Amino acid sequence: MGILFTIISNIFVIIPAQLVRIAIDYVVESFAYYQVFSEGDLSVEARSAFLKFIFIFGFLILVMALLRGFFLFLIRQTIIVMSRLIEFDMKNEIFDHYQKLPLSFYRRNSTGDLMARITEDVSRVRMYLGPAIMYGLNLVVLFPLVIGYMLSVNVELTIYSLLPLPVLSISIYFVNNLINERSEKIQRSLSGLSTFVQEAFSGIRVLKAFVREDDSANDFRKASEDYKDKSIRLTLVQSLFYPLILALIGISTILTVYIGGMQVIDGTIGYGVIAEFILYVNMLTWPVTSLGWVTSIIQRAAASQQRINEFLDEKNDIISTENLDTLIKGDIHVKNVSFVYPDSGIKALQDVSFSINSGESLAIIGTTGSGKSTIANLLMRMYDVSSGQIDIDGRNIQVYDTASLRKQIGFVPQDVFLFSDTIANNIGFGLDEYTLELIEKAAKDADVYQNIIDFPKGFETKLGERGITLSGGQKQRVSIARAIAKEPSILLLDDCLSAVDTKTENSILNALKKIMVNRTSIIISHRVSSAKLADKIIVLDDGKMVEQGTHDYLIDKKGVYAELYEKQTQNNETVEE
Ligand SMILES: Nc1ncnc2c1ncn2[C@@H]1O[C@H](COP(=O)(O)OP(=O)(O)OP(=O)(O)O)[C@@H](O)[C@H]1O
Ligand SMILES: [Mg+2]
Repeated sequence: MGILFTIISNIFVIIPAQLVRIAIDYVVESFAYYQVFSEGDLSVEARSAFLKFIFIFGFLILVMALLRGFFLFLIRQTIIVMSRLIEFDMKNEIFDHYQKLPLSFYRRNSTGDLMARITEDVSRVRMYLGPAIMYGLNLVVLFPLVIGYMLSVNVELTIYSLLPLPVLSISIYFVNNLINERSEKIQRSLSGLSTFVQEAFSGIRVLKAFVREDDSANDFRKASEDYKDKSIRLTLVQSLFYPLILALIGISTILTVYIGGMQVIDGTIGYGVIAEFILYVNMLTWPVTSLGWVTSIIQRAAASQQRINEFLDEKNDIISTENLDTLIKGDIHVKNVSFVYPDSGIKALQDVSFSINSGESLAIIGTTGSGKSTIANLLMRMYDVSSGQIDIDGRNIQVYDTASLRKQIGFVPQDVFLFSDTIANNIGFGLDEYTLELIEKAAKDADVYQNIIDFPKGFETKLGERGITLSGGQKQRVSIARAIAKEPSILLLDDCLSAVDTKTENSILNALKKIMVNRTSIIISHRVSSAKLADKIIVLDDGKMVEQGTHDYLIDKKGVYAELYEKQTQNNETVEE
């Protein structure tokens, strides 16, 4: 439809130019006659016939312009609307794809890069699909039409008047590339600037505490000075751009008038042709200008699409072998599992084996960097094991549908992340729909209920960005409530009691014991106080499992755990004194 409308609208561009020629030639001719009649009786009639004719021409030209306007409207409504729809689809496709990609993908690529592809790159591709195609199409249709007409009217005049146009097109191509190059530099400078600002304000507490305000302001001044310089350089190119176009059009017009004038003197053509040609040259100017512009848009769009495809071609390597979607009981067997982080090559786990039956609780204790969170990552299937096997309910973890598996695990990550939404929505985050009772029960089990109802708006309290309006311990407990609200078959707590006192820790662990009957809980911690209630404890050190057994067994064994227990309880005593 867009192509059709482009053709029709261009016909209404060309016809008026011819009407102008006919009208001017008629005026010139009838003026000669009119002078003859001006003495006699016929003068009044001749004059009115003449005016009528001119009026009809004027009216026709106006109608053509209106029709052209109408079709221009339709062109935009088809082609530009199409490009917006494609842009919409692309954005959704990329976003959907992003979300399917594994964690390892997010470790490799920065958030800025992900955002740039879904916004800037997509909009460049849209520029190609919309404006570039629209102007390109216009060019393809208008050129043969106009140049064909011009040649049929006068070959010599055509050649002279079109002479400056290729120069125009080529110079615009180069100038445009220069503009794009500089705009891109500005863009990069701007994103550096916004990253800087964002970091400065999200880290404002640290910034103030270390009294770095002046330093930070200086850095900002430098970054924004860079932005200013680059913008001024762009303005310089842009300032030269329009005079250049106008100069070349001027040359074209002068040539037309000069060569046309000579031919009128020779009597080869009428005055009207000059007017017609000037109109043609003006008609061609914008398409010729757009030729350079369109070419550079196409080049940029190609590069952008390539960048987008790079991400779209990324495959999710965490795939399910059988897409098994069943209710999980929670028997877990970890058999000789080793794991190396693919991106850093760090060997995080070596030959770790343990098992938990449904309804039991397991505590994982170990020093920092010993591989505790890595076990959580593997159980959530954020990564696949490098060697060994993890079985859930007697079947390899890889046979389960990943979404179904993750839905049945209540995970409390080590670094708490809450969304800037109400507390109720945060707790109900893992559920498609929830009742207030469920949320309240989860909050009670996580021992955060009293804190929440003490807020003036209770569960409807809006959390600030990343939950900054809550204390560290409150955040952790909301995060636990979020995991419990899912009523998971397996509860996985990664060091999530570190910011609560031992009393609260105990009450949460006791509540968990009650709700986790017939379900499995795994508690990862640095503190023995979190571990001692568990049915079984494993101790990790540097990726290896060094001890396992019950609290009493490990204490009797007088190994690493016993030593840790002694140290930590001793510390507590000194604190209590
Ligand atoms: N995403 C990752 N990519 C590469 N290496 C990682 C990644 N996450 C952790 N590691 C490395 O794997 C090792 C084990 O890390 P892990 O997070 O499992 O430790 P942890 O026992 O949970 O420690 P902490 O008690 O401090 O939370 C560390 O040496 C760490 O540097
Ligand atoms: Mg950890």
